[in-house]
Amino acid sequence: MKAVRIAQWGAPPRIEERPDPVPAPGRSLVRMQAATVGHIDRTVWRGGFLRPPPLPYTPGVEGAGIVIHSERFAPGQRVWLRGSGLGTQFDGTWCEIADAPDAALGELPEGLDMALGSAFFSPCTSAWVALHEVARVREGERVMVTGASGAVGSLAVQLALEIGAKVCAVVADASVDHGLPSGVDIVEWRPGVEAPSQEAEVLIDTVGGDVLATLLGRVLPGGRAVLIGYTAGETLSLSLPAFMQRDVSLLPLNMFRREAQGRAAVPRLLERLADGRLRLAVQRFAFDEAARALAWIAQRGHRGRAVLVAD
Ligand SMILES: NC(=O)c1ccc[n+]([C@@H]2O[C@H](COP(=O)([O-])OP(=O)(O)OC[C@H]3O[C@@H](n4cnc5c(N)ncnc54)[C@H](OP(=O)(O)O)[C@@H]3O)[C@@H](O)[C@H]2O)c1
Repeated sequence: MKAVRIAQWGAPPRIEERPDPVPAPGRSLVRMQAATVGHIDRTVWRGGFLRPPPLPYTPGVEGAGIVIHSERFAPGQRVWLRGSGLGTQFDGTWCEIADAPDAALGELPEGLDMALGSAFFSPCTSAWVALHEVARVREGERVMVTGASGAVGSLAVQLALEIGAKVCAVVADASVDHGLPSGVDIVEWRPGVEAPSQEAEVLIDTVGGDVLATLLGRVLPGGRAVLIGYTAGETLSLSLPAFMQRDVSLLPLNMFRREAQGRAAVPRLLERLADGRLRLAVQRFAFDEAARALAWIAQRGHRGRAVLVAD
């Protein structure tokens, strides 16, 4: 079979011929139809992951395909794959046949696009867990979402609206159509200029750095702020007296620790994606375009998730 291989950290991905994996207890063989190229894959590829897989390795934390052999699923079953060490501790999904722990697989509904089935898990479950389990957003609360043009941010906007929250979506450029639903207050704002006038009980922050430092000041006293990502900066400088006076709970989201909560939400999320209540943009690349996909997700202004699709 063909697989994308990484020989050194940060080296260009190359397609190589590899032996077909053989059936083993507790593992499933899946013919891959789609494999996501996400920020976590980029971190592992660059050598920045805490416990990386041994080199050379095949990346890919997420994907979707058709079961060839499994003790848990019938051959032909459409499945999504995610986690359990895939693409982090051992070879992942960027290949023709993935050899995955049974626990990494879940059933994909008939009719759901394979690329979407590959891309949904991280943004949908992260947004769901941030809102429902970490911030515990209630109907009528005001929720401010940063990075609302991104995959996690746009899902957080959609799911907060579903709860009945009043949603303020913070974007860098409001003149672009970000595909956000109607009923959302879209606010253009960048660090360095005066903070937006809007206030909220809950901040869902997907960018960190100065964005978080400033917008914490727009969370009402007693409110909650959930930190999901830190592309805008890895450190936070705060006035502690001001922070204490506002009494805002700053809550980090760690989806590796909360994977079980994410998995529990999957059937509800897939149902909403299948009937169009939830939308997630997907950009398709050929399997030999992994390098281009890795560069694309690092660019500001890209929309949706990158997915390698089989011919
Ligand atoms: N904590 C967890 O367990 C967890 C789980 C999933 C994801 N994440 C992290 O969450 C983050 C978002 O993921 P995603 O899939 O939504 O990424 P994405 O689709 O690439 O979106 C990134 C968003 O951040 C914005 N952004 C990037 N750099 C920025 C900056 N310097 N200042 C202001 N905004 C900036 C982008 O705005 P533009 O559109 O203007 O470029 C975009 O809205 C990533 O860092 C990811 O690693 C964490």
